[in-house]
Amino acid sequence: MQLARIPTPLVPLERLSRALGAEIWCKRDDLTGIGLSGNKVRKLEFLLAEAKAQGADLLLTCGGIQSNHARATAVAARQLGLDVELLLRGTPDDDPDGNLLLDHLLGARLHWCTPEDYRERRDALLADLAAQRRREGRTPYVIPEGGSNALGAKGYSAAAAEIGQRFDRVVVACGSGGTVAGLALGPDIGPIHGIAVCDDKAYFEGRIARMDEAIPAPGGKWRIDEGFQGPGYGIANAEIWAGIRQMAELEGLLLDPVYTGKAFWALRTRVAAREWTGRVLFWHTGGIFGLFGRGREIA
Ligand SMILES: Cc1ncc(COP(=O)(O)O)c(C=O)c1O
Repeated sequence: MQLARIPTPLVPLERLSRALGAEIWCKRDDLTGIGLSGNKVRKLEFLLAEAKAQGADLLLTCGGIQSNHARATAVAARQLGLDVELLLRGTPDDDPDGNLLLDHLLGARLHWCTPEDYRERRDALLADLAAQRRREGRTPYVIPEGGSNALGAKGYSAAAAEIGQRFDRVVVACGSGGTVAGLALGPDIGPIHGIAVCDDKAYFEGRIARMDEAIPAPGGKWRIDEGFQGPGYGIANAEIWAGIRQMAELEGLLLDPVYTGKAFWALRTRVAAREWTGRVLFWHTGGIFGLFGRGREIA
């Protein structure tokens, strides 16, 4: 199933490289589409092929209020003629922006839950919802948070195969682990650094290892770097915004404050400290809609 515009470009960032003092390249997965932009669509190609094969007429998934994954799932559902319901962490917003605005526009049916319920029971809540819909005669297909399971991760093993060369470092945001898991299972493109945007190294290393038993142990082909989560999930500090500005002004590339801005903060910090030298690949995973509604911070 072709949902993503792939292969995406792999480009050198020459002005940024001069400014930072290392050879920086970018994998443009912000260009996988418009409504379907970012890393999630690569996972959805595999997941939705299975949904279609099972005869699904409804997609169910979950995420934060500004989830890129939930929005991408809603877009993909509509492109395939399916219904979509989203379990979102938070409370309804009567002036929706960014991803949430698109969820509304796409007519996704929204269910809200508290952060505690989301943390402890999201999979159970999705399973209950699916059972209810089955009783109503529907055929739901449940996608886990971030599309991150063994099947979704295959999208990133395939993405690694687009690189065709080895870098000294590969830097990518880590929010639910599926992207790093897939890259870790793909061909060798250099040491993969998943930058935790929330939670911590131990949490993600455990979660990624559980996703597929074929994933090698952390520390060799891949690892999780922490210390760049900032004040919390979805919250950006001044250094993150400074990096987002630098990337925009030097290269005309748009990062977001939730995922890619944090991964780029890690890159800038490690390159400045000469911990990362040589050729560094920054994997742009999209997230542009996360910029909207943040005008006051940007100003
Ligand atoms: C823009 C963006 N970048 C990176 C990630 C992290 O990817 P993953 O959930 O596979 O760790 C996400 C989602 O969590 C995302 O929406």
